[in-house]
Amino acid sequence: MLVFRKSLSGRVFALLVFLQAALIVTGGAVRVTGSGLGCPTWPECTPGSYTPVPGQAEGAFHAWVEFGNRLLTFVLLICALAALALSVKLSRKSIRKIRIRFLALLQLLGILGQGVLGGITVLTDLHPIPVAGHFLLSIFLIAGAISLRYEMVGVAKQEATGLIRPLLPIFIWLTLFVLIAGTIVTGSGPHAGDEQAKRFGFDPRVVSWLHADLVIALIVLSAMLLLITRGSELNLLHRRIKLFLVISLLQGAVGYVQYFTGLPVILVALHLLGATLVWSTAWSLIKVANSGFRVKGLLQ
Ligand code: HEM
Repeated sequence: MLVFRKSLSGRVFALLVFLQAALIVTGGAVRVTGSGLGCPTWPECTPGSYTPVPGQAEGAFHAWVEFGNRLLTFVLLICALAALALSVKLSRKSIRKIRIRFLALLQLLGILGQGVLGGITVLTDLHPIPVAGHFLLSIFLIAGAISLRYEMVGVAKQEATGLIRPLLPIFIWLTLFVLIAGTIVTGSGPHAGDEQAKRFGFDPRVVSWLHADLVIALIVLSAMLLLITRGSELNLLHRRIKLFLVISLLQGAVGYVQYFTGLPVILVALHLLGATLVWSTAWSLIKVANSGFRVKGLLQ
């Protein structure tokens, strides 16, 4: 631990995680309200102005929703800069300083990458590949922000042992595949960006069921992990897995309900928030277990 959780510096790292997640939800709001081209140019919102202007052709609502999302990216950038400065300062004497600084730098580069990807999204008239890329990059940035926070404020670890150990990397990959499949469903459906946005061209029914099948596999695997850790000394891990399972089951229920009710906007937004929570709890779980992805060479 390099900084107290509740100190101002500690809170900057928590804010970074929160803002990375919030960006997914506001990005989703842009999509489900069909505001993707509310600011038709980038980096300007409308030719000649960085902010929406009165009487803008795209409508004030769409312009402000899209502009609000761009603004949040800017706030996130400031937070990431603060996190980088703190990481450099506070890790000076840490043996893990390379890893800490690298994680903080990645946040900054990732956010800049999001800005560029946002531009490409607008300039390609909301092509589903950059739209999905936007979401997936956010997912990696959330993971990085959680890892960075744990490096700085510390986290109670419970090293995975026995059968759990090889299952956890499968668990995190499967969670990632569920998310990727979800973006393909979105890119094939009615909420891909706005009504005119290009689509992947897959049958939305088929990709939805494939997405749901991966979810079922993930839930079965998580239930197995829960059973294996029950009554073992891995009590902390057991509680984390239980939390993951509860959130995933709720998220799965939202997924089915939105599918069978014709994808109402409010449920699609809720599903996006759920996806963020599923991923965050999954990532946090493998960090507690000291397992999953590793950046080679940066472990000291
Ligand atoms: C752990 C459970 C689940 C997770 C983590 C998850 C995750 C996701 C993600 C990340 C997206 C894409 C969001 C975006 O690109 O903006 C998505 C979309 C979607 N998911 Fe799921 N999902 C889950 C369960 C389900 C289930 C069980 C169904 C049932 C069929 C389902 C149906 C859908 C549909 C229809 C969409 C497209 C919504 C749209 O038009 O935007 N999901 N999901």
